[in-house]
Amino acid sequence: MTNSKKQQLPPGPQLSISDFKEKVNENPFNFLMDLIEKYGDVIYMKLQQDDVYILSNPDHIEQILTRDYKLFSKTRTTELRPFLGNGLLLNEGDSHRHHRKIIQPLFLPKSIKSYGNIMVDNITHISENWQENATIDVLQEMTMLTMGVMAESLFGINFRDRDTFSKISDAFANILETLNRLIHEPVENVLVDLESGSTTTLTNQVLYDNKKPNTFQDSIDYLNQKIYALMDHIKKTNPDKPNLISHLMQAKDPETGGVGLPEKQIRDETMIFLFAAHDTTSTALTWSLAYLATNQNIQDKLRKELDAVLGETRVPTSDDLPKLEYTEKIFKETLRIRPSVWALSRLTNEEYMVGEYVIPSNSVIFMSQYALHNSSKYYSDADKFNPDRWTKEFISKLPRFAYFPFGGGIRSCIGETFAVQEGILALATIFQRWYVMPANKEENISFEPKNLAGFTKPKFPIRVVVKRRKYKSIS
Ligand code: HEM
Repeated sequence: MTNSKKQQLPPGPQLSISDFKEKVNENPFNFLMDLIEKYGDVIYMKLQQDDVYILSNPDHIEQILTRDYKLFSKTRTTELRPFLGNGLLLNEGDSHRHHRKIIQPLFLPKSIKSYGNIMVDNITHISENWQENATIDVLQEMTMLTMGVMAESLFGINFRDRDTFSKISDAFANILETLNRLIHEPVENVLVDLESGSTTTLTNQVLYDNKKPNTFQDSIDYLNQKIYALMDHIKKTNPDKPNLISHLMQAKDPETGGVGLPEKQIRDETMIFLFAAHDTTSTALTWSLAYLATNQNIQDKLRKELDAVLGETRVPTSDDLPKLEYTEKIFKETLRIRPSVWALSRLTNEEYMVGEYVIPSNSVIFMSQYALHNSSKYYSDADKFNPDRWTKEFISKLPRFAYFPFGGGIRSCIGETFAVQEGILALATIFQRWYVMPANKEENISFEPKNLAGFTKPKFPIRVVVKRRKYKSIS
């Protein structure tokens, strides 16, 4: 490596912060894809005081997430630690490693398999409430579904009342909005607003009621109150029943050697799981339903598989998963074209070499699932929803990090198998019972994504009409 190469900056745009914000507000996805097309796989941008490097070569991403992960830390989302706590998603270093090891047994394939019935029960409960020819708000229904699954499988509680659901849902919408501001605005502004309580909720008008938490701090207080009450309930009533909280109460504390993690750490882990475990999966299922509603041929093929595997009267179980190959391909393709988490970022702890460039310490590294998954370099007809592309041969030729909806390496999603199982069982249960169609004309379903703190939300509500299949009763 010559000195001149070492000092050379990768190509990239020179944008003022206001121009950058305008582009990001307009459409961050197109902006990113245009940058990559123009400047290539390693891009440099100066954004106020931050040196930002956008990386889009799957080999570079693999190196960072798997081989060299110790040389990086997480970026600005960790500013939320004082509020969200230090659970798995935000924790770092040895403490992260210890806690991941403690929590891992709950996510082993055997444990995940045991959640199969809970998943199907919750999905059945939600979809059986739909009326013939009703128009449903897909994101709202899928959020209820995934929250119910998470509450019952990870915390052993069954909440199916819409009131608790909508309060928790609003509390998280509020937190997400604040996260989004933290990413786009100077931290100081957001913190001032947080302290004065003026960060308001992204209230879902349909569910609005005045008792809902309406500031960020209210939301945190509300969730804290729920979590501590839940911990208390588990301690008093059934401390041995297996769930995330009882598991953490009985785990050996790696820091003290004693039994049980401190209450504050259990609260933090619970908060992170409440946060990470439902929103991502509900968004993915929402996109799946949108694509299926507008692709009746794919929907028919899905139903053919369901009829062949499940027959006319049986609900799916986790034992059916290996046979539900096409259903799995639909979920996989959804996470390709609309990955629920659309970008990851890291901070370099020291100077780091990427290809021929040296990235200085304390630089922001930005790696986008959306950009790689929608790149014509790796996917032909990348903007076409095509579950059939996922043949064994195609997978074997695809660079490992040209598809990474769940991240990779030691910080990869601990809930991946959980989410995939839930996705497949949800699609199977819903499409076994219902035909799903666009609410009006096909054009009314918009596939335009919206960025919310790194999550790929639908920009416009997705509404579909459901029609029951003429079928024997399923049990
Ligand atoms: C389709 C659904 C999901 C997607 C696309 C998704 C995606 C991700 C991604 C990309 C990361 C890595 C973040 C990073 O490297 O900075 C992550 C981390 C994480 N996810 Fe998921 N996730 C999903 C569902 C779930 C579920 C169901 C759970 C829990 C049951 C969960 C729990 C977590 C946790 C705790 C972490 C932090 C792991 C760590 O840092 O050690 N996720 N997820």
